[in-house]
Amino acid sequence: MTALLVFESMYGSTAAIAEAVAAGLADLRIPVTVCEVGLAEVPSFATRPSLLVVGAPTHQRGLSTPRTRDMARGEFAQSVSRGDGVREWLDQLVGHASGQSVAVFDTALAGRLAGSAAHTIGKRLTRAGATLVMPPESFVVTGRSSGLLPDELEKARSWGRSLALFAAAAAAAQRTR
Ligand SMILES: Cc1cc2nc3c(=O)[nH]c(=O)nc-3n(C[C@H](O)[C@H](O)[C@H](O)COP(=O)(O)O)c2cc1C
Repeated sequence: MTALLVFESMYGSTAAIAEAVAAGLADLRIPVTVCEVGLAEVPSFATRPSLLVVGAPTHQRGLSTPRTRDMARGEFAQSVSRGDGVREWLDQLVGHASGQSVAVFDTALAGRLAGSAAHTIGKRLTRAGATLVMPPESFVVTGRSSGLLPDELEKARSWGRSLALFAAAAAAAQRTR
């Protein structure tokens, strides 16, 4: 089994969660490649990972747009993601996602009104034929640029370990079909 984790991050919190999720996958000996979205190639059929994990910050209750990324860069010129975001990457993935096992996460403010980039990513991927191995997950930030709540990194590592187990079970079920 292999995993590819693609993330977008402006202020660094989603990047930190991505590394923690990858550490959780690695705890269960899943070889994982972590890639900032601007550097991530869309996996072709031949290079498909067993599990694709996609994460992004929540902007305006969903995925970032060129405008919201510009707003973030206006506040923080050293943004981690410098170009296109997950929204544009998913546009390219359509047509390559059928049958792909996926998991999705975001960072967001606490509360029901925060919205969720992960739900948007999950919807787009399932519409393209992918299968979610676990429900979308959110990791909580204390403000736009002020970082994660304490314990979110440990929660992310633990989610990564669960992901490894669910993805392995999904792969085994597919083999017996
Ligand atoms: C333009 C903009 C809009 C945002 N809108 C939301 C929102 O609707 N809901 C929310 O929970 N967080 C919102 N946020 C806060 C982001 O969730 C937060 O900046 C992000 O989780 C931090 O992740 P990063 O450090 O990886 O960029 C917004 C941030 C920006 C810059």
